[in-house]
Amino acid sequence: MVQLSLPKNSVPTEGKTFKAEGAKRVKRFRIYRWSPDDSQNPRIDTYEVDLDKCGPMVLDALIKIKNEIDQTLTFRRSCREGICGSCAMNIDGANTLACTKGIDEIGGDVKIYPLPHMPVVKDLVPDLTNFYAQHAYVQPWLQTKGEEPKKEWTQSPADREKLDGLYECILCACCSTSCPSYWWNGDRYLGPAALLQAYRWLADSRDQQTNERLDRLEDPFKLYRCHTIMNCAKACPKGLNPAKAIAEIKQMMVDRA
Ligand code: SF4
Ligand code: SF4
Ligand code: FES
Repeated sequence: MVQLSLPKNSVPTEGKTFKAEGAKRVKRFRIYRWSPDDSQNPRIDTYEVDLDKCGPMVLDALIKIKNEIDQTLTFRRSCREGICGSCAMNIDGANTLACTKGIDEIGGDVKIYPLPHMPVVKDLVPDLTNFYAQHAYVQPWLQTKGEEPKKEWTQSPADREKLDGLYECILCACCSTSCPSYWWNGDRYLGPAALLQAYRWLADSRDQQTNERLDRLEDPFKLYRCHTIMNCAKACPKGLNPAKAIAEIKQMMVDRA
C-alpha cells in the first residue's frame, strides 16, 4: 500500500485562542494562519466571536476579527456582495465566498482555510498568478477580422441568450481549486474557470476567431484533462456550470474535425 506523508513543516499546529469574554452567543472560528516572514509551520488560530455584535456573514466575522481582535489576520475582500470574487476561501470544507456564506449555515465551529492546492501568499490569501495567466491565455475579449461595423454591433436576443450562464463569472477560482484534475495538473490543464471563459467567447455570435480559439485549446492537457467529475459546478457560488461549457468546447472540436 502506498504511504503518503506530508513534510513536517507543512503540518498545521494548534495556535492561539482568543476568548470573547462576557459574550452570550459565541461562535468559534478556526482559521488557517501562515506567514512567509518566519520559518514557522502553519497553525490554526481560534477566535471566539460574539454573534450579538457581528453581522450575519462569514466575511463580517473576519472583518470583526481583524478590526477588533487580531490585526495580523490576512484575507482578500472588496465588494462584500458576491461580485468581485476576491473573498473566495474554503469554509466548512467547501470553496465559497465569505461574503455570501451565512454564519448560521454552519453548525459547530467555522473552519476556514485558503482555497486548496494553491501556493499561499499569507493566511487566507492564495497566489493566483497562474490562474490569471490561464485566464489571459484564452484571450477573453471580442476579436474580429477587421470587419467591425461602423455603428453599434447588434446581437439578436436569441444569440445574446447563449451567453447566459457564461458572462456572470466573477473569477473567484472556487471551481478550479475544487477540480481534482486542476490539483494534479494545474500547470498544464487550463481548469474550469479559464475554459468557461474560453467558451463564453466561442459562443459569442460576434466573435470571428472561432477556429483560432479552438486551435489554442487543442492539446491533451489544456482542455482534455477535464474528466467530467463536476466538482466545478458544485463549487461555483454564482451557480454556473463550467463542466457543461467544457463539454460544449469538446463538441465544437468534434464538429470541426
Ligand atoms: S468537470 Fe472537469 S473541470 Fe469540472 S471539476 Fe470535473 S474535471 Fe474539473
Ligand atoms: S465559474 Fe464560478 S466558481 Fe469558477 S471562477 Fe467563475 S464564478 Fe468562480
Ligand atoms: S468580497 Fe467581493 S465577492 Fe466577496
